[in-house]
Amino acid sequence: MPTVAVYPGSFDPLTNGHVDIITRGARLFDRIVIAILVNAEKAPLFSVTERVEIARTVFKDLPNLDVDTFDGLLVDYVERRKAQVIVRGLRAVSDFEYEFQMALMNQRLNGKIETVFMMPAEQYTYTSSRLIKEVFSLGGRVHGLVPDMVEERLRAKRTKSGTRR
Ligand code: PNS
Repeated sequence: MPTVAVYPGSFDPLTNGHVDIITRGARLFDRIVIAILVNAEKAPLFSVTERVEIARTVFKDLPNLDVDTFDGLLVDYVERRKAQVIVRGLRAVSDFEYEFQMALMNQRLNGKIETVFMMPAEQYTYTSSRLIKEVFSLGGRVHGLVPDMVEERLRAKRTKSGTRR
């Protein structure tokens, strides 16, 4: 039976840390699904449609990858996709507590699904979507930390909102 892994998250925006984990995951599993959470409560910078478009473009050459959206419980989505694994990236000790709680809650909700943690390459251990948005909004350089397409889209949003730097 093929091993299918779901890599869930907000991806607002996709960073090179995510890209690194996905690329490693695609080598490890028969199929990997980027599952973008549709969360109406948050005010995202990128719409879900934009995030899907970015992920599909960035990974257009990875044949064993799907990009999808989900809402509701992650374990229910994983079961619907007939996947066995949830992949999460672990960057630093600070990630551990939240990830540990989520992994154990998901295990309690569905004991057949395993969470697998993967470490990104060292240069991405401090990269997060939240910091990327903050640094960029304050005029800092994010080049090399996000895919070129994300950098272009960030610039376009800044131009549209009238704050040129
Ligand atoms: O990119 P993020 O924000 O760290 O991803 C968090 C995500 C999407 C993995 C998590 O919020 C999630 O799984 N949400 C779906 C709802 C759910 O199943 N909650 C219980 C998880 S223990």
